[in-house]
Amino acid sequence: MPHNHNALRRPVLEIEDLSVGYETPNSLVHAVSDVNLTVHEQEILGLVGESGSGKSTLAFAVMRLLKGDAVVTKGRVRVAGQDVYALTPAELRSFRWKKMSMVFQSAMNALNPVMTVETQIVDTLLAHQPDWSRERALARARELLELVRIDAKHLKSYPHELSGGMRQRVVIAIAIALQPDLVIMDEPTTALDVVVQRSILDEIREIQQREKFAILFISHDFSLVAELASRVAIMYAGRIVEVTDSETLADGYRHHPYTEGLIRAIPHLTAEQVVIEGIPGNPPNLMELPSGCAFHPRCPYATEECRQARPPQYPSEHGLIECHLFKPQREAQHV
Ligand SMILES: Nc1ncnc2c1ncn2[C@@H]1O[C@H](COP(=O)(O)OP(=O)(O)O)[C@@H](O)[C@H]1O
Ligand SMILES: [Mg+2]
Repeated sequence: MPHNHNALRRPVLEIEDLSVGYETPNSLVHAVSDVNLTVHEQEILGLVGESGSGKSTLAFAVMRLLKGDAVVTKGRVRVAGQDVYALTPAELRSFRWKKMSMVFQSAMNALNPVMTVETQIVDTLLAHQPDWSRERALARARELLELVRIDAKHLKSYPHELSGGMRQRVVIAIAIALQPDLVIMDEPTTALDVVVQRSILDEIREIQQREKFAILFISHDFSLVAELASRVAIMYAGRIVEVTDSETLADGYRHHPYTEGLIRAIPHLTAEQVVIEGIPGNPPNLMELPSGCAFHPRCPYATEECRQARPPQYPSEHGLIECHLFKPQREAQHV
């Protein structure tokens, strides 16, 4: 049975009751609603949900990188015990590298095309460690490239001379350069082919065990998250509808009906063919969320209660679940 490895571990990311909305001409549309989530030191927490469910908005809110039309309407974000929204802009600039960093969706195209890999890594290091010598920064740059399995000769390369996979590895190397406590990876391998994706995931796992940072790993790909992460948070229409140990995603555990759908949607290889059972219907438009539980129009178990009232979060055996089906039954009477 899975057990709680986190009992003695310090929380590195604490998201409390966080809501984020986008200002539109007529209203504020919430892309993240009432999110509570904790990532512990050295943990890989997976965040999964269909496209548009609010994953990137949540990541940007944690990094305090939301754009102008996005507003945090309530809640709190703490990283390494520090309230991220209480930092001054100057403090935030160094906090973002030393305590938390982020690998963005299609980050591999974000490298500066006119600077060598060496310059980009060394400049980043020296900008945040002004007392370091150039030699020391260069030694660290070499070590970082080795960590992501790139030959040090590529320090002299320009981004266009590297493959997509190598560019993405460089971005990961820069993200961990200053040994942050938390690295957010938002769809870090989505743009890459399956083979490269696989080897980068293996490397991420290996580096994470060596360098001991925590990862919030974001992907729309449920099977990939389930494999990499020790715990998984499932997001639907801006809400975390379940948090569970990834070991429970194998057969035999009860889950949120949406999670069940995601598990069923993993392609099963049978002798003859690949069978994919999807979840019928589409995610809702955030501007016209269904009443009650936002998943109810797609849920095979929906009742009148689900149509009318938003479910509270109930503790489950391995985390929590936001679903009326999980209302605790009154304890059986013992005679
Ligand atoms: N700048 C914006 N203005 C208005 N709505 C936005 C903006 N950016 C994202 N959204 C909406 O917020 C929702 C969540 O988007 P996002 O966080 O990117 O989801 P995900 O990363 O899970 O695909 C989507 O429905 C999207 O349309
Ligand atoms: Mg996204």
